[in-house]
Amino acid sequence: MLNFDFYNPTQILFGKGRIADLNKVVPADAKVLLMYGGGSIKHNGVFDEVIAALGSRSVTEFTGIEPNPSYETLMKAVEVVKQNKIDFLLAVGGGSVIDGAKFVAAAALFEGDDPWAILEKRGTNITKALPFGSVLTLPATGSEMNNGSVVTRKSLKAKMAFSSRHCFPLFSVLDPTKTYTLPLRQVGNGAVDAFVHVMEQYMTYPVNAPVQDRFAEGLLKTLIEEGPKALANPEDYDVRANLMWCATMALNGMISTGVPQDWATHMIGHELTALHGLDHAQTLAIVLPSMLRIRKEAKRAKLLQYAERVWDLREGRDGDEDSRIDAAIGKTQDFFEQMGVKTHLSDYAIKASDIPPLVSALENHRMVALGEKRDVTLDISRQVLELSL
Ligand code: NZQ
Ligand code: ZN
Repeated sequence: MLNFDFYNPTQILFGKGRIADLNKVVPADAKVLLMYGGGSIKHNGVFDEVIAALGSRSVTEFTGIEPNPSYETLMKAVEVVKQNKIDFLLAVGGGSVIDGAKFVAAAALFEGDDPWAILEKRGTNITKALPFGSVLTLPATGSEMNNGSVVTRKSLKAKMAFSSRHCFPLFSVLDPTKTYTLPLRQVGNGAVDAFVHVMEQYMTYPVNAPVQDRFAEGLLKTLIEEGPKALANPEDYDVRANLMWCATMALNGMISTGVPQDWATHMIGHELTALHGLDHAQTLAIVLPSMLRIRKEAKRAKLLQYAERVWDLREGRDGDEDSRIDAAIGKTQDFFEQMGVKTHLSDYAIKASDIPPLVSALENHRMVALGEKRDVTLDISRQVLELSL
């Protein structure tokens, strides 16, 4: 096992009716900026419950945070924070709103000229941030219990990530009943995103870390079992609860302790969103199967372990090593399709001629040595995209 430093201060308030407990965790004298997206929280009762729980606290609203939150929109929120002397942010929504709150929390106290530098330096230049909490309505990103954020600067067509130990939510409320209203597309997206998060931390090479491996395999199997049930029975509480906790555990730092990490699929995916507007999970469903096929030799030992433990493909019974690996990758791709997320570039009208600009964008963003061994060159990224057509 590799050395590691594990730190996660986020308090989780999980279960039915927990939004009311905002009253206990938001400071009583807070001047709150209530941040949300396009309005789903107004239709499913979440907004009303949040306002009731905040009681007599001063609340300013900031709405219109879009999926793949933009720097342009978030800088308007920074202005509102400064004008109204806001001292606490409350993000209510999915990963985009929570990521947006992280950026605003850091940008509002940023001492440089332009907070875009936070993205350019990947968060290493953050020295402080406003305190914030979240109410999660879409299980997917893990943003509710991690310190990462992804922001898009539309004018540059750049989607970039940062992280900082100052950007953990103080708390996150996870009420599975609030996910009943999710469109099926977002249910599928959420399961695929969480699945790929686990894969980015698990599907590398063995370092004799059985706790992390079995934990990761448990999350993958749970997503495979529960994901389709959520599509079939949107109001099954236990299914929603298990999916919600799964997505949080997939990216809260637990399974990445002491193991190598990949993240090449995510970095290529970010360019697909920036240039073609695909949902985050759509990009992952396209890239991951091809990435595994192209990097089969580097990942051989873990692919065989994955085939056996996650997909029950056994030595002797299910063919030789290569056929078991191929079958496991095929089943992964089938699972994404089963969740309603298409897995080819052509499904989204992206053509071979679109690949060179994607590779150039990776180069511009210095994504030239990706993966757990930093050996995913631009040429390999291009091959992955070509195999995804
Ligand atoms: O904006 P509203 O009206 O709220 O609608 C949203 C949005 O249109 C809707 N929605 C959310 N909860 C709902 C609901 N609709 C009905 N009922 C509910 N309960 O869902 C749509 C998508 O929301 P969004 O927040 O964009 O989705 P998601 O949670 O998948 O977040 C995606 C963003 O997170 C980033 C992605 O890159 C992307 O920008 N990521 C953040 C990560 C992190 N912080 O660790 C890691 C991830 O890899 C990812 O990169
Ligand atoms: Zn993701």
